[in-house]
Amino acid sequence: MLEILILAAGKGTRMRSDLPKVLHRLAGKFLLGHVVDTAHALGADQICVVYGFGGEAVPQALADDRLTFVLQAEQHGTGHAVKQALPRLSDDGVALVLYGDVPLTHAGTLRPLVAAARAGKLGLLTVDLGHPDGYGRIVRDADGRVRRIVEHKDATPAERAIHEVNTGILAVPTHHLRRWIGELKNDNAQGEYYLTDVIAMAVRDGLVVETHQPAHEWEVLGVNSKAQLAELERIHQGEVARTLLDAGVTLMDPARLDVRGTLTCGRDVVIDVNCVFEGRVELGEGVQVGANCVLRNVTVAAGTRIDAFTLIDDAAIGEANRLGPFSRIRPGTTLARDVHVGNFVEIKNSQIDDGSKINHLSYVGDTSMGSRVNIGAGTITCNYDGANKHRTVIEDDVFVGSDTQLVAPITVGKGATLGAGTTLTRDAPAGELTLSRPKQVTVTGWKRPVKQKKES
Ligand code: UD1
Ligand code: CA
Repeated sequence: MLEILILAAGKGTRMRSDLPKVLHRLAGKFLLGHVVDTAHALGADQICVVYGFGGEAVPQALADDRLTFVLQAEQHGTGHAVKQALPRLSDDGVALVLYGDVPLTHAGTLRPLVAAARAGKLGLLTVDLGHPDGYGRIVRDADGRVRRIVEHKDATPAERAIHEVNTGILAVPTHHLRRWIGELKNDNAQGEYYLTDVIAMAVRDGLVVETHQPAHEWEVLGVNSKAQLAELERIHQGEVARTLLDAGVTLMDPARLDVRGTLTCGRDVVIDVNCVFEGRVELGEGVQVGANCVLRNVTVAAGTRIDAFTLIDDAAIGEANRLGPFSRIRPGTTLARDVHVGNFVEIKNSQIDDGSKINHLSYVGDTSMGSRVNIGAGTITCNYDGANKHRTVIEDDVFVGSDTQLVAPITVGKGATLGAGTTLTRDAPAGELTLSRPKQVTVTGWKRPVKQKKES
Protein backbone atom coordinates (compact mmCIF):
# COMPACT_ATOMS: atom_id res chain seq x y z
CA MET A 1 0.00 0.00 0.00
CA LEU A 2 1.48 3.33 -1.13
CA GLU A 3 -0.19 6.51 0.05
CA ILE A 4 1.05 9.81 -1.28
CA LEU A 5 0.60 13.11 0.56
CA ILE A 6 0.84 16.28 -1.44
CA LEU A 7 1.32 19.40 0.67
CA ALA A 8 -0.40 22.30 -1.02
CA ALA A 9 -1.76 24.56 1.69
CA GLY A 10 0.72 27.42 1.38
CA LYS A 11 -0.28 30.86 0.24
CA GLY A 12 2.67 31.64 -1.97
CA THR A 13 2.89 35.30 -0.97
CA ARG A 14 5.70 35.96 -3.43
CA MET A 15 3.54 34.98 -6.39
CA ARG A 16 1.67 38.27 -5.74
CA SER A 17 -1.56 36.70 -6.91
CA ASP A 18 -5.01 35.90 -5.57
CA LEU A 19 -4.75 32.41 -7.04
CA PRO A 20 -3.46 29.70 -4.67
CA LYS A 21 0.12 28.99 -5.68
CA VAL A 22 -0.48 25.38 -6.75
CA LEU A 23 -3.13 26.55 -9.26
CA HIS A 24 -0.64 28.52 -11.31
CA ARG A 25 0.09 26.68 -14.54
CA LEU A 26 3.21 25.14 -15.97
CA ALA A 27 2.92 23.92 -19.56
CA GLY A 28 -0.78 24.68 -19.37
CA LYS A 29 -1.36 22.41 -16.39
CA PHE A 30 -1.75 23.32 -12.70
CA LEU A 31 1.48 22.93 -10.73
CA LEU A 32 -0.46 20.58 -8.48
CA GLY A 33 -1.66 18.67 -11.55
CA HIS A 34 1.92 17.78 -12.44
CA VAL A 35 2.49 16.37 -8.95
CA VAL A 36 -0.79 14.44 -9.05
CA ASP A 37 0.25 12.90 -12.40
CA THR A 38 3.56 11.83 -10.88
CA ALA A 39 1.70 10.30 -7.93
CA HIS A 40 -0.48 8.31 -10.34
CA ALA A 41 2.60 7.22 -12.27
CA LEU A 42 3.98 5.75 -9.04
CA GLY A 43 0.83 3.66 -8.67
CA ALA A 44 -0.43 5.35 -5.49
CA ASP A 45 -3.28 3.57 -3.72
CA GLN A 46 -4.37 6.87 -2.25
CA ILE A 47 -3.42 10.46 -3.02
CA CYS A 48 -4.10 12.93 -0.23
CA VAL A 49 -3.92 16.63 -1.09
CA VAL A 50 -3.52 18.93 1.91
CA TYR A 51 -4.97 22.30 0.92
CA GLY A 52 -5.60 25.53 2.78
CA PHE A 53 -4.98 28.93 1.25
CA GLY A 54 -7.67 29.89 -1.25
CA GLY A 55 -10.35 27.75 0.42
CA GLU A 56 -12.22 25.40 -1.87
CA ALA A 57 -10.51 26.72 -5.00
CA VAL A 58 -7.99 23.87 -4.99
CA PRO A 59 -10.44 20.93 -4.60
CA GLN A 60 -12.77 22.58 -7.11
CA ALA A 61 -10.07 23.10 -9.71
CA LEU A 62 -8.70 19.56 -9.38
CA ALA A 63 -12.08 17.81 -8.97
CA ASP A 64 -11.15 14.13 -9.29
CA ASP A 65 -12.63 11.16 -7.36
CA ARG A 66 -9.20 9.59 -7.15
CA LEU A 67 -7.99 12.38 -4.85
CA THR A 68 -8.64 12.80 -1.13
CA PHE A 69 -8.69 16.45 -0.09
CA VAL A 70 -7.78 17.37 3.47
CA LEU A 71 -8.16 20.90 4.76
CA GLN A 72 -5.37 22.50 6.77
CA ALA A 73 -7.24 25.60 7.87
CA GLU A 74 -4.21 27.31 9.40
CA GLN A 75 -0.67 26.62 8.28
CA HIS A 76 1.55 25.76 11.22
CA GLY A 77 4.31 24.03 9.31
CA THR A 78 4.99 20.98 7.16
CA GLY A 79 4.64 18.59 10.14
CA HIS A 80 1.29 20.12 10.99
CA ALA A 81 0.22 19.72 7.35
CA VAL A 82 1.07 16.01 7.38
CA LYS A 83 -0.78 15.62 10.68
CA GLN A 84 -4.04 16.74 9.04
CA ALA A 85 -3.85 13.82 6.61
CA LEU A 86 -2.92 11.11 9.13
CA PRO A 87 -6.53 10.09 9.95
CA ARG A 88 -6.95 9.17 6.26
CA LEU A 89 -3.90 6.92 6.13
CA SER A 90 -3.74 3.21 6.95
CA ASP A 91 -0.94 1.81 9.09
CA ASP A 92 0.03 -1.11 6.88
CA GLY A 93 1.58 0.86 4.08
CA VAL A 94 4.17 3.47 3.29
CA ALA A 95 3.67 7.20 2.93
CA LEU A 96 5.48 9.42 0.43
CA VAL A 97 5.41 13.19 1.00
CA LEU A 98 5.43 15.45 -2.08
CA TYR A 99 4.80 19.18 -2.56
CA GLY A 100 2.22 20.82 -4.78
CA ASP A 101 4.67 23.53 -5.79
CA VAL A 102 7.49 21.18 -6.85
CA PRO A 103 6.19 20.12 -10.26
CA LEU A 104 9.02 18.49 -12.20
CA THR A 105 10.15 15.51 -10.11
CA HIS A 106 10.45 12.34 -12.20
CA ALA A 107 8.65 9.26 -10.93
CA GLY A 108 11.91 7.37 -11.44
CA THR A 109 13.63 9.62 -8.90
CA LEU A 110 10.99 8.78 -6.29
CA ARG A 111 10.82 5.01 -6.77
CA PRO A 112 14.02 4.28 -4.76
CA LEU A 113 12.57 6.27 -1.83
CA VAL A 114 9.38 4.21 -1.90
CA ALA A 115 11.44 1.02 -2.12
CA ALA A 116 13.48 2.11 0.94
CA ALA A 117 10.29 2.75 2.91
CA ARG A 118 8.90 -0.66 1.86
CA ALA A 119 12.10 -2.14 3.29
CA GLY A 120 11.39 -0.47 6.64
CA LYS A 121 13.76 2.46 6.11
CA LEU A 122 13.28 6.19 5.77
CA GLY A 123 13.94 7.28 2.20
CA LEU A 124 15.01 10.90 1.89
CA LEU A 125 15.63 12.93 -1.27
CA THR A 126 18.50 15.37 -0.85
CA VAL A 127 20.45 17.56 -3.24
CA ASP A 128 23.80 19.35 -3.16
CA LEU A 129 23.34 23.05 -3.83
CA GLY A 130 25.95 25.69 -4.58
CA HIS A 131 23.81 28.19 -2.70
CA PRO A 132 22.03 26.29 0.07
CA ASP A 133 20.66 29.41 1.80
CA GLY A 134 17.15 29.02 3.13
CA TYR A 135 17.08 25.24 2.95
CA GLY A 136 17.16 22.65 5.72
CA ARG A 137 20.66 21.13 5.94
CA ILE A 138 21.43 17.41 6.13
CA VAL A 139 23.54 16.78 9.21
CA ARG A 140 25.61 13.56 8.99
CA ASP A 141 27.89 11.86 11.52
CA ALA A 142 31.57 11.03 11.05
CA ASP A 143 30.57 7.82 9.24
CA GLY A 144 28.40 9.74 6.82
CA ARG A 145 25.12 8.54 8.32
CA VAL A 146 22.27 11.04 8.40
CA ARG A 147 21.57 12.21 11.97
CA ARG A 148 19.03 14.97 11.55
CA ILE A 149 17.94 17.98 9.51
CA VAL A 150 18.44 21.49 10.76
CA GLU A 151 16.43 24.34 9.26
CA HIS A 152 18.42 27.29 7.97
CA LYS A 153 16.94 29.64 10.56
CA ASP A 154 17.90 27.28 13.40
CA ALA A 155 21.34 26.34 12.07
CA THR A 156 24.75 27.27 13.47
CA PRO A 157 27.34 28.84 11.14
CA ALA A 158 29.05 25.43 10.86
CA GLU A 159 25.75 23.79 9.88
CA ARG A 160 25.03 26.56 7.38
CA ALA A 161 28.28 25.62 5.63
CA ILE A 162 26.70 22.25 4.67
CA HIS A 163 25.73 22.14 1.00
CA GLU A 164 23.61 19.01 1.08
CA VAL A 165 20.03 20.15 1.62
CA ASN A 166 16.65 18.66 2.29
CA THR A 167 14.25 18.67 -0.66
CA GLY A 168 11.39 17.94 1.75
CA ILE A 169 10.52 14.78 -0.17
CA LEU A 170 10.60 11.61 1.94
CA ALA A 171 9.02 8.17 2.21
CA VAL A 172 8.54 6.12 5.35
CA PRO A 173 6.38 3.31 6.79
CA THR A 174 3.14 5.06 7.78
CA HIS A 175 2.90 3.68 11.33
CA HIS A 176 6.26 5.27 12.19
CA LEU A 177 5.24 8.59 10.66
CA ARG A 178 2.06 8.61 12.73
CA ARG A 179 4.02 8.07 15.94
CA TRP A 180 6.65 10.73 15.17
CA ILE A 181 4.20 13.40 14.03
CA GLY A 182 2.46 12.99 17.39
CA GLU A 183 5.73 13.89 19.10
CA LEU A 184 6.55 17.05 17.11
CA LYS A 185 7.09 20.30 18.99
CA ASN A 186 7.20 23.83 17.67
CA ASP A 187 9.99 25.18 19.87
CA ASN A 188 12.08 26.50 16.97
CA ALA A 189 12.93 29.79 15.27
CA GLN A 190 9.68 29.81 13.26
CA GLY A 191 7.32 28.42 15.90
CA GLU A 192 6.28 25.74 13.39
CA TYR A 193 5.85 21.98 13.48
CA TYR A 194 8.68 20.82 11.22
CA LEU A 195 8.23 17.57 9.30
CA THR A 196 12.03 17.53 9.13
CA ASP A 197 12.25 16.74 12.84
CA VAL A 198 11.09 13.17 12.09
CA ILE A 199 14.56 12.41 10.68
CA ALA A 200 16.18 12.64 14.12
CA MET A 201 13.33 10.52 15.55
CA ALA A 202 13.91 7.86 12.90
CA VAL A 203 17.60 7.78 13.80
CA ARG A 204 16.69 7.55 17.49
CA ASP A 205 14.34 4.64 16.78
CA GLY A 206 17.05 2.80 14.86
CA LEU A 207 15.69 3.22 11.33
CA VAL A 208 18.16 3.49 8.51
CA VAL A 209 17.91 6.83 6.69
CA GLU A 210 18.66 6.16 3.05
CA THR A 211 19.26 9.22 0.88
CA HIS A 212 18.94 9.56 -2.86
CA GLN A 213 19.61 12.48 -5.15
CA PRO A 214 17.74 13.45 -8.30
CA ALA A 215 19.42 13.23 -11.70
CA HIS A 216 18.73 16.93 -12.28
CA GLU A 217 18.59 19.72 -9.71
CA TRP A 218 15.45 21.18 -11.32
CA GLU A 219 13.48 18.06 -10.36
CA VAL A 220 13.37 19.33 -6.79
CA LEU A 221 13.01 23.06 -7.42
CA GLY A 222 9.87 24.64 -6.04
CA VAL A 223 7.92 27.60 -7.33
CA ASN A 224 7.79 30.58 -5.02
CA SER A 225 7.67 33.46 -7.48
CA LYS A 226 6.68 34.20 -11.06
CA ALA A 227 10.36 34.30 -11.95
CA GLN A 228 10.83 30.73 -10.67
CA LEU A 229 7.67 29.65 -12.45
CA ALA A 230 8.99 31.07 -15.73
CA GLU A 231 12.34 29.39 -15.12
CA LEU A 232 10.76 25.95 -14.56
CA GLU A 233 8.51 26.45 -17.59
CA ARG A 234 11.61 26.94 -19.76
CA ILE A 235 13.33 23.92 -18.22
CA HIS A 236 10.26 21.78 -18.86
CA GLN A 237 9.88 23.04 -22.43
CA GLY A 238 13.56 22.34 -22.99
CA GLU A 239 13.00 18.74 -21.89
CA VAL A 240 10.00 18.39 -24.19
CA ALA A 241 12.01 19.81 -27.09
CA ARG A 242 14.87 17.43 -26.42
CA THR A 243 12.49 14.44 -26.41
CA LEU A 244 11.10 15.57 -29.77
CA LEU A 245 14.59 16.04 -31.22
CA ASP A 246 15.58 12.58 -29.98
CA ALA A 247 12.51 11.20 -31.75
CA GLY A 248 13.71 12.76 -35.01
CA VAL A 249 11.57 15.89 -35.17
CA THR A 250 13.24 18.95 -36.71
CA LEU A 251 12.80 21.99 -34.50
CA MET A 252 14.15 25.15 -36.13
CA ASP A 253 14.86 26.42 -32.62
CA PRO A 254 14.24 24.14 -29.63
CA ALA A 255 14.25 27.22 -27.38
CA ARG A 256 11.21 28.61 -29.18
CA LEU A 257 8.65 25.84 -28.84
CA ASP A 258 5.79 25.54 -26.36
CA VAL A 259 3.95 22.30 -25.78
CA ARG A 260 1.08 22.60 -23.32
CA GLY A 261 -0.25 19.09 -23.50
CA THR A 262 0.96 16.17 -25.60
CA LEU A 263 2.49 16.48 -29.04
CA THR A 264 3.04 13.28 -31.03
CA CYS A 265 4.94 13.43 -34.29
CA GLY A 266 5.51 11.01 -37.16
CA ARG A 267 8.79 10.80 -39.07
CA ASP A 268 10.34 13.87 -40.65
CA VAL A 269 8.12 16.48 -39.07
CA VAL A 270 9.50 20.03 -39.25
CA ILE A 271 8.39 22.74 -36.84
CA ASP A 272 9.45 26.33 -37.30
CA VAL A 273 9.86 28.83 -34.45
CA ASN A 274 7.29 30.12 -31.96
CA CYS A 275 4.65 27.46 -32.38
CA VAL A 276 2.30 26.60 -29.51
CA PHE A 277 0.72 23.14 -29.20
CA GLU A 278 -2.09 22.76 -26.70
CA GLY A 279 -4.08 19.75 -25.56
CA ARG A 280 -3.61 16.66 -27.69
CA VAL A 281 -1.90 17.31 -31.01
CA GLU A 282 -0.81 14.65 -33.51
CA LEU A 283 1.30 15.49 -36.54
CA GLY A 284 1.63 12.79 -39.18
CA GLU A 285 4.67 11.86 -41.23
CA GLY A 286 6.31 14.73 -43.09
CA VAL A 287 4.03 17.44 -41.68
CA GLN A 288 5.54 20.93 -41.78
CA VAL A 289 4.41 23.66 -39.44
CA GLY A 290 5.45 27.24 -40.24
CA ALA A 291 6.42 29.91 -37.75
CA ASN A 292 3.97 31.27 -35.18
CA CYS A 293 1.23 28.67 -35.53
CA VAL A 294 -1.08 27.65 -32.68
CA LEU A 295 -2.59 24.14 -32.78
CA ARG A 296 -5.02 23.02 -30.10
CA ASN A 297 -6.48 19.48 -30.02
CA VAL A 298 -5.71 18.80 -33.65
CA THR A 299 -4.74 15.82 -35.76
CA VAL A 300 -2.83 16.54 -38.95
CA ALA A 301 -2.33 13.68 -41.42
CA ALA A 302 0.81 12.95 -43.39
CA GLY A 303 2.33 15.37 -45.85
CA THR A 304 0.32 18.42 -44.88
CA ARG A 305 1.99 21.81 -44.81
CA ILE A 306 0.77 24.53 -42.46
CA ASP A 307 2.21 27.94 -43.23
CA ALA A 308 2.97 30.73 -40.77
CA PHE A 309 0.46 32.35 -38.41
CA THR A 310 -2.20 29.66 -38.72
CA LEU A 311 -4.51 28.90 -35.80
CA ILE A 312 -6.26 25.52 -35.65
CA ASP A 313 -8.63 24.54 -32.89
CA ASP A 314 -10.37 21.16 -32.37
CA ALA A 315 -10.11 20.00 -35.96
CA ALA A 316 -9.01 17.03 -38.05
CA ILE A 317 -6.75 17.94 -40.96
CA GLY A 318 -6.28 15.31 -43.64
CA GLU A 319 -3.36 14.32 -45.84
CA ALA A 320 -1.40 16.55 -48.17
CA ASN A 321 -3.31 19.72 -47.32
CA ARG A 322 -1.94 23.24 -47.58
CA LEU A 323 -3.04 25.70 -44.94
CA GLY A 324 -2.11 29.30 -44.31
CA PRO A 325 -0.43 31.61 -44.01
CA PHE A 326 -2.97 33.31 -41.74
CA SER A 327 -5.72 30.67 -41.79
CA ARG A 328 -8.08 30.11 -38.91
CA ILE A 329 -9.65 26.68 -38.52
CA ARG A 330 -12.27 26.49 -35.79
CA PRO A 331 -13.86 23.58 -33.88
CA GLY A 332 -15.77 20.87 -35.68
CA THR A 333 -13.88 21.18 -38.95
CA THR A 334 -12.57 18.24 -40.95
CA LEU A 335 -10.52 18.70 -44.06
CA ALA A 336 -10.11 15.63 -46.28
CA ARG A 337 -7.23 15.13 -48.72
CA ASP A 338 -5.37 17.74 -50.77
CA VAL A 339 -7.46 20.65 -49.47
CA HIS A 340 -6.03 24.17 -49.79
CA VAL A 341 -6.98 26.88 -47.33
CA GLY A 342 -5.26 30.19 -47.86
CA ASN A 343 -4.76 33.54 -46.18
CA PHE A 344 -7.48 35.21 -44.17
CA VAL A 345 -9.82 32.26 -44.48
CA GLU A 346 -11.92 31.21 -41.49
CA ILE A 347 -13.57 27.78 -41.44
CA LYS A 348 -15.91 26.65 -38.68
CA ASN A 349 -17.79 23.40 -38.13
CA SER A 350 -17.46 22.37 -41.76
CA GLN A 351 -16.51 19.26 -43.71
CA ILE A 352 -14.43 19.91 -46.79
CA ASP A 353 -13.83 17.05 -49.19
CA ASP A 354 -10.85 16.07 -51.35
CA GLY A 355 -9.16 18.63 -53.55
CA SER A 356 -11.32 21.63 -52.65
CA LYS A 357 -9.72 25.07 -52.49
CA ILE A 358 -10.58 28.15 -50.46
CA ASN A 359 -7.56 30.26 -51.10
CA HIS A 360 -8.35 33.80 -50.04
CA LEU A 361 -10.40 35.97 -47.66
CA SER A 362 -13.45 33.82 -47.00
CA TYR A 363 -15.74 32.63 -44.22
CA VAL A 364 -17.03 29.08 -44.44
CA GLY A 365 -19.23 28.05 -41.51
CA ASP A 366 -21.61 25.12 -40.94
CA THR A 367 -20.88 23.88 -44.43
CA SER A 368 -20.65 20.50 -46.15
CA MET A 369 -18.42 20.90 -49.17
CA GLY A 370 -17.84 18.21 -51.77
CA SER A 371 -14.71 17.42 -53.77
CA ARG A 372 -12.85 19.69 -56.22
CA VAL A 373 -14.85 22.78 -55.24
CA ASN A 374 -13.25 26.15 -55.90
CA ILE A 375 -14.28 29.00 -53.64
CA GLY A 376 -13.43 32.49 -54.93
CA ALA A 377 -11.96 35.27 -52.83
CA GLY A 378 -14.33 37.03 -50.49
CA THR A 379 -16.95 34.28 -50.32
CA ILE A 380 -19.13 34.24 -47.24
CA THR A 381 -21.54 31.60 -46.00
CA CYS A 382 -24.25 33.59 -44.22
CA ASN A 383 -24.95 30.86 -41.66
CA TYR A 384 -26.55 32.98 -38.95
CA ASP A 385 -29.88 34.75 -39.20
CA GLY A 386 -29.48 36.45 -35.84
CA ALA A 387 -31.19 33.61 -33.99
CA ASN A 388 -30.25 30.26 -35.54
CA LYS A 389 -27.40 28.72 -37.48
CA HIS A 390 -28.13 27.10 -40.84
CA ARG A 391 -26.14 24.79 -43.08
CA THR A 392 -24.76 25.36 -46.50
CA VAL A 393 -24.30 22.40 -48.84
CA ILE A 394 -21.91 22.77 -51.78
CA GLU A 395 -21.75 19.65 -53.93
CA ASP A 396 -18.81 18.29 -55.94
CA ASP A 397 -17.13 20.34 -58.68
CA VAL A 398 -18.87 23.63 -57.85
CA PHE A 399 -17.16 26.87 -58.82
CA VAL A 400 -18.03 29.87 -56.67
CA GLY A 401 -17.05 33.28 -58.10
CA SER A 402 -15.46 35.92 -55.92
CA ASP A 403 -17.42 38.10 -53.51
CA THR A 404 -20.34 35.70 -53.23
CA GLN A 405 -22.72 35.34 -50.31
CA LEU A 406 -24.56 32.08 -49.73
CA VAL A 407 -27.54 32.70 -47.48
CA ALA A 408 -28.13 29.44 -45.58
CA PRO A 409 -29.92 27.09 -45.49
CA ILE A 410 -28.96 26.61 -49.09
CA THR A 411 -27.65 23.99 -51.52
CA VAL A 412 -25.45 24.48 -54.56
CA GLY A 413 -25.89 21.49 -56.90
CA LYS A 414 -23.09 19.41 -58.36
CA GLY A 415 -21.03 21.18 -60.99
CA ALA A 416 -22.88 24.50 -60.59
CA THR A 417 -21.14 27.80 -61.23
CA LEU A 418 -21.98 30.95 -59.26
CA GLY A 419 -21.09 34.25 -60.89
CA ALA A 420 -18.88 36.72 -59.03
CA GLY A 421 -20.77 39.02 -56.70
CA THR A 422 -23.80 36.75 -56.36
CA THR A 423 -26.02 36.86 -53.30
CA LEU A 424 -27.50 33.38 -53.39
CA THR A 425 -30.83 33.15 -51.54
CA ARG A 426 -32.32 30.10 -53.29
CA ASP A 427 -30.73 26.74 -54.19
CA ALA A 428 -28.56 26.79 -57.29
CA PRO A 429 -29.27 23.94 -59.73
CA ALA A 430 -26.57 21.45 -60.65
CA GLY A 431 -24.50 22.09 -63.76
CA GLU A 432 -25.85 25.60 -64.44
CA LEU A 433 -24.52 29.14 -64.09
CA THR A 434 -26.43 31.09 -61.46
CA LEU A 435 -25.76 34.72 -60.69
CA SER A 436 -27.42 37.75 -59.16
CA ARG A 437 -25.99 40.95 -60.42
CA PRO A 438 -27.47 44.42 -61.16
CA LYS A 439 -27.06 45.35 -64.84
CA GLN A 440 -23.89 47.29 -65.52
CA VAL A 441 -24.53 50.85 -66.77
CA THR A 442 -22.25 53.56 -68.15
CA VAL A 443 -23.18 57.24 -67.77
CA THR A 444 -21.52 58.84 -70.72
CA GLY A 445 -20.14 62.34 -70.43
CA TRP A 446 -20.29 62.29 -66.61
CA LYS A 447 -17.73 64.59 -64.97
CA ARG A 448 -16.08 64.24 -61.59
CA PRO A 449 -16.76 67.12 -59.20
CA VAL A 450 -13.93 69.68 -59.00
CA LYS A 451 -12.68 71.06 -55.68
CA GLN A 452 -13.95 74.65 -55.20
CA LYS A 453 -11.50 77.38 -54.16
CA LYS A 454 -12.25 78.79 -50.68
CA GLU A 455 -12.47 82.60 -50.48
CA SER A 456 -9.70 84.18 -48.32
C1 UD1 B 1 10.94 23.04 3.78
C2 UD1 B 1 11.78 22.15 4.67
C3 UD1 B 1 13.25 22.38 4.38
C4 UD1 B 1 13.53 22.14 2.90
C5 UD1 B 1 12.61 22.98 2.03
C6 UD1 B 1 12.73 22.57 0.60
C7 UD1 B 1 10.45 21.92 6.71
C8 UD1 B 1 10.32 22.35 8.10
N1 UD1 B 1 11.47 22.47 6.04
O1 UD1 B 1 11.24 24.38 4.13
O2 UD1 B 1 14.04 21.52 5.16
O3 UD1 B 1 14.88 22.44 2.62
O4 UD1 B 1 11.23 22.77 2.42
O5 UD1 B 1 12.00 23.47 -0.19
O6 UD1 B 1 9.71 21.09 6.25
N2 UD1 B 1 3.05 23.73 3.58
C9 UD1 B 1 1.76 23.41 3.91
N3 UD1 B 1 1.32 23.71 5.16
C10 UD1 B 1 2.09 24.31 6.07
C11 UD1 B 1 3.41 24.65 5.73
C12 UD1 B 1 3.88 24.33 4.46
O7 UD1 B 1 1.02 22.86 3.10
O8 UD1 B 1 1.60 24.54 7.18
C13 UD1 B 1 3.54 23.42 2.22
C14 UD1 B 1 3.81 24.71 1.46
O9 UD1 B 1 2.70 25.06 0.67
C15 UD1 B 1 5.00 24.32 0.60
C16 UD1 B 1 5.71 23.23 1.38
O10 UD1 B 1 4.77 22.75 2.32
O11 UD1 B 1 4.60 23.78 -0.62
C17 UD1 B 1 6.99 23.67 2.03
O12 UD1 B 1 6.67 24.64 2.98
P1 UD1 B 1 7.62 25.87 3.27
O13 UD1 B 1 7.09 26.63 4.40
O14 UD1 B 1 7.93 26.59 2.02
O15 UD1 B 1 8.94 25.11 3.75
P2 UD1 B 1 10.38 25.67 3.70
O16 UD1 B 1 10.55 26.70 4.74
O17 UD1 B 1 10.74 26.03 2.33
CA1 CA C 1 9.68 26.59 0.40
